[in-house]
Amino acid sequence: MKIYVIGKPIKHSMSPIIHNYWLRKYSKSHVYEKKEVCKDSLKKIIEQIKTKKIVGVNVTIPYKKDFYNLLENLSSNAKNSKAVNTLYLKNDNVYGENTDGIGYCKALKQEMNYEVKDKNILVLGSGGASFGIISELINRKASKIIVSNRTKIKCNQLIENFRNNKTKFEKMEWQKIEPSREIDLIINTTSVGMKENEQINIDTKNLEKNTIFSDIIYSPKKTRTMKSFEEKGFLTQNGLGMLIFQAAEAFRLWFGINLTKQDINEAKRICETTY
Ligand code: ATR
Repeated sequence: MKIYVIGKPIKHSMSPIIHNYWLRKYSKSHVYEKKEVCKDSLKKIIEQIKTKKIVGVNVTIPYKKDFYNLLENLSSNAKNSKAVNTLYLKNDNVYGENTDGIGYCKALKQEMNYEVKDKNILVLGSGGASFGIISELINRKASKIIVSNRTKIKCNQLIENFRNNKTKFEKMEWQKIEPSREIDLIINTTSVGMKENEQINIDTKNLEKNTIFSDIIYSPKKTRTMKSFEEKGFLTQNGLGMLIFQAAEAFRLWFGINLTKQDINEAKRICETTY
């Protein structure tokens, strides 16, 4: 039986390496494959899960929002972030979940021993990944989230989407990213840094030295922005942990298996050797 990661383009996905490792380790006969699909076939995929022809799928760009609109059964994270990255069958119904935020927070906990509860967090970006992560930062009771995005209207829409929560929201100009002393954690959810020469200009002069810079990009392994924070003595983290932990959440939804720390670390090591 197959499990797919679907998107367009899909060539660069590392998800098959991760899932096929765990599938073999847990003696599952399933195979996880990449599949490039058109928008027309999304309904058919839901049907295939319902009729147990496939176990489930992971979804990546550009279909996360489409599945949010197509599915009747959605988790609270999928609802709040208006995006679905995992489809699975529960009680004969196809459910949509978004494991990005949980994956991010679990990686932060495991790799940096860091909890977001009561923290003031600067989130760079207002795209799909930002929505998914912020949904979980709110679940875990972050104190304040400051959002900065190149396109102001998208930043406003994101804040409007999450407004009725206990977590406070503020905005910061993209052209003048100058976090104050109160910021505990900075998360880059934008794609700036995927090209080796790109860097986000952040004025770090007010920051405490225990502020963490966390980038959800994992290729390159260290973005220029990460390097500049490290040179100034800050701790940094890349996005590989988030990739593995969001995969582990999906694996749990499909098979009811809670992967161990060792399973996570083994998958991470395999990924690290492939890029
Ligand atoms: P994803 O689902 O990966 O979050 P996305 O929804 O396309 O992808 O969001 C991409 C994010 O990266 C957005 O916040 C985008 O900013 P805009 O809203 O202004 O487009 C940000 N981004 C991409 N390229 C950027 C660049 N060159 N400078 C600044 N921000 C950029």
